[in-house]
Amino acid sequence: MQPITDVAELFRHQRAVRAFSDREVDQATIEELLTAATHGPSGSNSQPWRFIVVRDAAVKAQLSEVYETAFGEAYATRAPARAADRQPWTEVPVLIVACVQVPASTGRSGIQTGASIYPACQNLMLAARARGLGSVLTTLHRVKRAEIHEILGIPDGWDSAAIIPLGWPDRSYGPNRRPPVSEVMMLDRWSE
Ligand SMILES: Cc1cc2nc3c(=O)[nH]c(=O)nc-3n(C[C@H](O)[C@H](O)[C@H](O)COP(=O)(O)O)c2cc1C
Repeated sequence: MQPITDVAELFRHQRAVRAFSDREVDQATIEELLTAATHGPSGSNSQPWRFIVVRDAAVKAQLSEVYETAFGEAYATRAPARAADRQPWTEVPVLIVACVQVPASTGRSGIQTGASIYPACQNLMLAARARGLGSVLTTLHRVKRAEIHEILGIPDGWDSAAIIPLGWPDRSYGPNRRPPVSEVMMLDRWSE
């Protein structure tokens, strides 16, 4: 995919990419993407995040096995759209695990906790797409997050909000497709 500098085009072309070439993503680029992530907003500017950059083949294999089990269970009866475009994580150049600190008061993450990590993930993915890199936000691992946390050594008090496979796309992808704004916009009050 080509790099993009125009912001409107960037939003249109940021989309789920789940298959990559075997070209490496260098560490300087990863750090630029994580810098974009850490400029994201968070509640009270708490910046409650850590990012695990997984390149090690053995770790990727362990994560991939758990994810494939979760995927098989989730889609036991019906394959998701574009399932054929998916690569196992063993073949993905980099996996970025976005972790968020859970509130000490409840020890659990909820919608507000998520609101302090997913904007950072989106920043990361937009910065990636701007450079011609592909990525996809995944959360399916969360049904098996105890296993994922064990593999990665994620301590209590932290949650793995997303795992983002990242790499140079296997092919070019067109823009994402969304219905017109008129279908989702309301004026002043909720209306059908
Ligand atoms: C909260 C959330 C969870 C997601 N979880 C997964 C996932 O576990 N696995 C996956 O392959 N894609 C996952 N996705 C990616 C969506 O399937 C993708 O964003 C959506 O289909 C739109 O794709 P497009 O932008 O290419 O049109 C997730 C996206 C979001 C926002």
